[in-house]
Amino acid sequence: MVRVALVGCGRISKNHVEALSGLTDVELVACCDVVPARAEAIASKTGCAAYTDYEKMLREAQCDVVSLCTPSGLHPSQVALAAGYGRHVLSEKPLGIRLGDVDEAIRACDAAGVHLFVVKQNRFNRTVRLARQALEMGRFGRIYMVLSSVLWARPQEYYDAARWRGTWEYDGGCLCNQAAHYVDLVQWMGGAVESVQAYSATQGRRIEAEDSIVVNLRFRSGALGSINVTTLAYPKNLEGSLTILGEKGTVKIGGFALNHFERWEFDAGHPMDEEIQSAATNPPNVYGFGHLDYYRHVLEVLNGQVEAEVDGRDGRKTVELICAAYASARKGGTPCPLPLVAVSSF
Ligand SMILES: NC(=O)c1ccc[n+]([C@@H]2O[C@H](COP(=O)([O-])OP(=O)(O)OC[C@H]3O[C@@H](n4cnc5c(N)ncnc54)[C@H](O)[C@@H]3O)[C@@H](O)[C@H]2O)c1
Repeated sequence: MVRVALVGCGRISKNHVEALSGLTDVELVACCDVVPARAEAIASKTGCAAYTDYEKMLREAQCDVVSLCTPSGLHPSQVALAAGYGRHVLSEKPLGIRLGDVDEAIRACDAAGVHLFVVKQNRFNRTVRLARQALEMGRFGRIYMVLSSVLWARPQEYYDAARWRGTWEYDGGCLCNQAAHYVDLVQWMGGAVESVQAYSATQGRRIEAEDSIVVNLRFRSGALGSINVTTLAYPKNLEGSLTILGEKGTVKIGGFALNHFERWEFDAGHPMDEEIQSAATNPPNVYGFGHLDYYRHVLEVLNGQVEAEVDGRDGRKTVELICAAYASARKGGTPCPLPLVAVSSF
């Protein structure tokens, strides 16, 4: 039985509680939120212990894994603290906002010999897995372009509901928050990125960071890419897509959150082509159904059955690309080469 403690009982914590309740060999033993009513709400629903002080929870609660659902800028220090108490850590995305903080969190986990997982539940969408499988089989041939669009709607009330949202210290803008999964997938499909160029703008929301950004990429392979993100889409979430253009195949995973194929075309057929229709899902929101599969994967890793698929170093790659895009945007669109040397602030 793997014992989990959940920290941060806000919006996304529901997906964690639901995922945990769908698994048999795992138990939610504690939860923690600085707002007592939020922790108590989960405790009364699940029977776990409620805390308002994170370190007290780490001292007292007998848990194997700490799941962090707190504001993103808090993740690195909370990861490091949990590692210091010998706990495995699962961080919500992104792993952090600043690369230096993320590096310290990774080092703390390495030093403590604990696993660091980063929730990238979209990697577990059947659509995404099929595309990746086709890629690994070489069905695309040479990859020419990997493109992603995240055209979502987040009204001002969404930002006003939690003061950390849209701030540079705790959240970043739409690239860092809404598009973190897509940044991960673009690199998962396109490979290592050599250079990043971006323009960003804050046009429609009263927040510190950007509500719109366009990012251009050059991959080390020579392929090109782009990531376009906004939270200003009218009148609702319109698109969360990933397009892979290769010499022998084209795939576009679309819908509002990578939930069905808009194109699946290769020069030669394969039995996996039969799965395209059934891979489509109709999730109730853009978070999808992947948290359950992600926890299942975490349990398999902890039981020694598989290697971790998205560890701290994968989480770092996402933060690195985001930091590079912000560095470029700050310099009026001057390209920023990768890899980035860790700095304490971007
Ligand atoms: N995987 C996904 O698809 C997905 C979706 C949404 C959000 N997220 C991520 O989840 C995280 C939380 O987002 P959210 O929308 O649930 O935010 P939220 O504001 O709804 O919830 C955050 C909670 O953390 C609590 N908190 C703040 N500081 C704390 C501390 N020091 N100790 C304990 N609790 C503390 C807050 O009181 C709040 O209840 C973010 O990193 C976000 O990027 C991931």
